[in-house]
Amino acid sequence: MIESTGIAWVDGKITSMEEARIPFLDRGYFFGDGVYEAVKVIEGKLFALEEHLERFERSMKEIRITPPKTKAEFTDIIRECIEKAGIPNAMVYLQVTRGVGPRMHAFLPQGEPMVTLFVAPMDSLEESVRVAGVSCITVPDERWAHPHIKTLNLLPNVLAKQAAAEKGAFEAIFVLGTEPGGGVVTEASSSNIAAVINGKVVTPPLNGRILPGVSRAIMLETARAAGIEVEEREITLEELLSAEEVILTSTGVEVLGVRELDGVTVGQGVAGPLTRRLYEVFMAGSVQRLS
Ligand code: PDD
Repeated sequence: MIESTGIAWVDGKITSMEEARIPFLDRGYFFGDGVYEAVKVIEGKLFALEEHLERFERSMKEIRITPPKTKAEFTDIIRECIEKAGIPNAMVYLQVTRGVGPRMHAFLPQGEPMVTLFVAPMDSLEESVRVAGVSCITVPDERWAHPHIKTLNLLPNVLAKQAAAEKGAFEAIFVLGTEPGGGVVTEASSSNIAAVINGKVVTPPLNGRILPGVSRAIMLETARAAGIEVEEREITLEELLSAEEVILTSTGVEVLGVRELDGVTVGQGVAGPLTRRLYEVFMAGSVQRLS
């Protein structure tokens, strides 16, 4: 064990977070030219690793980075780091950039992808937060046209989350377009969204305008298995603002209720009953996805 604040893996070298160094000319630094994954570790076990590694490969292929390692090799590195870190509840952050070389926009003729990783402590949310729910704001979705790729280009997400923080809110929900009815909601700055509308769980479809969240997929699967009706379709802002329940899903929050949206109370002003049920079946289903 190196130290409890986490460890870093940079191109094969394991150090403390503080000692980790990446080359100044890494294209991730200049261009955000890379992709990443964030995987949860629960009691020393990885949650939904296969799903994350599959998305990671897809992201690399989408931006034309040849995966520098196989999924099995990434898995070995991740497991070694988890063991060295000795942190039972953690997040593994895994990143691949297009590599290191003179700053030029087009790909480097001889560029080699650069792999970095860290393991840092991450505890599950407090039960009191789960019960109370969180507040959210809405912001215009001004991201590029391919948010289904998990790239390092997160400036709109950073600005959205900051806008939420400045209003004392937990998350910012993106709204695309300003048609009559207020456009459609896509996802949040670092989570997917769902809502309960007319008693039914609805979540935006995988149409390229949202990240295909691992937690979103597991929520849908575990809900269907438990006999809860779920529908993948677009949600207008108007619908979201009058939804019975609003729900966030992500590696960090799992399935979390929203109690307030743009200053207006959602439902009863606490995490709603279907949200709680979805969380329960999600957690029950999680056990099979630990490895
Ligand atoms: N974020 N949408 C966006 C824009 C995200 O950044 C994330 C995850 C999600 C949820 O995906 P998943 O269920 O696979 O975690 C949706 C991670 C946690 C992050 O950036 O740290």
